[in-house]
Amino acid sequence: MPTSSADETGRPPAYLQVDDLAAGYGASVIVNGASAGVGHGEIVTIVGPNGAGKSTFLKAIVGMIPALSGKVRLGEEDVTNMKANNLAKRGLGYVPQVNDVFETLSVLDNLAIGGYLLSRPGAARRMEAVLETFPALKTMLKRTASKLSGGERKMLAIARVLMLEPRLLVLDEPTSNLSAELSRMLLEEHVRRLGKGGTALLIVEQKALAALTISDWAYVMAAGTMKVSSAAKDLLARKDIGEVFLGRSTEGPNVQRASGGIC
Ligand SMILES: Nc1ncnc2c1ncn2[C@@H]1O[C@H](COP(=O)(O)OP(=O)(O)OP(=O)(O)O)[C@@H](O)[C@H]1O
Ligand SMILES: [Mg+2]
Repeated sequence: MPTSSADETGRPPAYLQVDDLAAGYGASVIVNGASAGVGHGEIVTIVGPNGAGKSTFLKAIVGMIPALSGKVRLGEEDVTNMKANNLAKRGLGYVPQVNDVFETLSVLDNLAIGGYLLSRPGAARRMEAVLETFPALKTMLKRTASKLSGGERKMLAIARVLMLEPRLLVLDEPTSNLSAELSRMLLEEHVRRLGKGGTALLIVEQKALAALTISDWAYVMAAGTMKVSSAAKDLLARKDIGEVFLGRSTEGPNVQRASGGIC
């Protein structure tokens, strides 16, 4: 059941609510009955083993692949199977795991494309604000995106999506290929700051401990469904955390099984 007000978990009302989603590729169903929610201004992380279906789940939410069944709601609207550009107009920004920038274009052009729905003066104003968030990009506006370092490239990928000032930002492995130190910087400095500024975030992350540290809520996905839904701090406190991350253990205090609604 979608939740419309803060529930007993203390979570804010759901802004994104996904119920019983199924999705896959051709005849192969990868995600099967997965549910998750992101409240207004919440940072929510999905962890789980390789191949669990995390990226597939995100792709079906953001309109990159069809949802075979289930429901995606954004605000008060049913947006199941809505195309990505219409979701962008409604305030959903998505940074994929791969192909996250236009490699042959400059940093400046990547940002300009990110603001494609804005008027020219609106885009210029927004670019200024985004460059304040990622000041390192200011010095490399003319550089071709393919020449950026891993960390610079990820900043550009996020900055490009921020051009439209999303209310919900969906990030698929923002720290992949980044060193431990850069990962922590990206999560603790940039992502946390976005969350504090009121942007809701749904993140899939391999660097689970670093991601959970900045998150409010967490899901563990394994074999195409959510095995655990828990406050991030409770998940971090579990002694069997290694097993939990692999989706093998779903028992324990403060950890609830995912059900249809935000939980
Ligand atoms: N485009 C595709 N066509 C066919 N099968 C795919 C495609 N993309 C992913 N798969 C398969 O779907 C399954 C889940 O993949 P997915 O990328 O969703 O996992 P993941 O949890 O994001 O893993 P990782 O942590 O390694 O990124 C895998 O078995 C994968 O091989
Ligand atoms: Mg993935």
